[in-house]
Amino acid sequence: MIQIERLRPLEILDSRGNPTVRCTCWLTGGATGVCAVPAGASTGKHEAVELRDGDAFRYRGLGCQQAVAHIAGEIQDSLRGVEFRDQAELDQHLIDLDGTPNLGRLGANSILAVSLAFACAAAAAQRVPLHTYFADLCAAADQIRPHRFPVPTINLFSGGMHAGQQVAIQDVLLVPKPSHEFPTQLEAMSEVYRVAVDFMASEYGMRYLTADEGGLAPPFSSSGAMLDGAMECAYRAGLAAGADFAVAVDAAASHFHVNGQYVLDGVTLDAHQLVRVYEGWANNYPLYSLEDGLAEDDWQGWQHMYERLADKTLILGDDLLCTNRQRIEQAIELRAANALLLKLNQIGTVSRALDALQVARAAGWHIVISARSGETEDAWLADLAVGWSAQNIKVGSIAQSERLAKYNRLLEIHASITRLEPPV
Ligand code: PGA
Ligand code: ZN
Repeated sequence: MIQIERLRPLEILDSRGNPTVRCTCWLTGGATGVCAVPAGASTGKHEAVELRDGDAFRYRGLGCQQAVAHIAGEIQDSLRGVEFRDQAELDQHLIDLDGTPNLGRLGANSILAVSLAFACAAAAAQRVPLHTYFADLCAAADQIRPHRFPVPTINLFSGGMHAGQQVAIQDVLLVPKPSHEFPTQLEAMSEVYRVAVDFMASEYGMRYLTADEGGLAPPFSSSGAMLDGAMECAYRAGLAAGADFAVAVDAAASHFHVNGQYVLDGVTLDAHQLVRVYEGWANNYPLYSLEDGLAEDDWQGWQHMYERLADKTLILGDDLLCTNRQRIEQAIELRAANALLLKLNQIGTVSRALDALQVARAAGWHIVISARSGETEDAWLADLAVGWSAQNIKVGSIAQSERLAKYNRLLEIHASITRLEPPV
């Protein structure tokens, strides 16, 4: 049995300079863990709700002092003398204490901070690396322990809400050759990023303009031109389309969905017309996955998109699914998607996210574990993606310390697994 002795929360700042929550957890017996939660910008309507102070005179209303106070007060008080068998029991305790379906009373940010800090402390108590702890959770629930090192999907160019909306779609990402080892994948994609920096200078006369996740944001004339730019940079870096790399698109279409229509780079389209644009992309580019191709509640549109495109590319749901079991079940039943973008803070606890993962995996779906656009220097995401054996991890560009923390942790885990160095 595991007992929490003390929680120490702290309001810290994320990669956008906005407040977020970090929590340190002490277990009786002395093991400790510390974790920080991220925050999104192009958030889905159906996500668990993070608690923000709303005081316009402090961090423009985004302060997390109430969330921090809930951890130090109500949550900590509720844990006194309580023993938990495992992560699932602790998480259920937090969900019951909150009492709302979207965790809006205590805040998904405070609840996830405790859930994750507990995971880190429990891993320390068991003297196992965090990725092993996550793998054990998965194995206990699934009765299987898949072994797979996640392939990164890496932001190259950005638009949409992450980059001042110079083009409608949010991100064009690179996907390295899966048969290469992770360090080689990173090296090859890093070169494409460097080429893209030079490309910006030669084509647009610009030095770096980067979006929230490190994606480069030159003033492309259209979303299609952004894809052409990615292909050109990969080509200049000596990579062959399909053989050496693929591209992925996060359209984040909820954010250019206006009055039931899609406004793609100034052109108004209905869902079927937009899907035709995507079909053109799938035919012309090595399109690995299409994330949020349509808006978060356009279920009929998603069914049509699945019908037209599922044999060509992964139909990946982020805002559509919000890591939420019910929405994933609905998408399975309606045949609206075949891949899950999993973000812990969309659903608020480690166990709920694991539940979502299992539902998706049981349906044969593909799993992408993802960072948020507002991240911290914490690297637990790398451990989660390895432990839960995701096919892909989506971290952002190979730039900015909050992204590199995850890539560096992946390098460390990769070295310890492949060279049989002591566990880290
Ligand atoms: P967000 O964006 O973290 O701002 O929601 C990431 C994504 O859309 O995948
Ligand atoms: Zn997305």
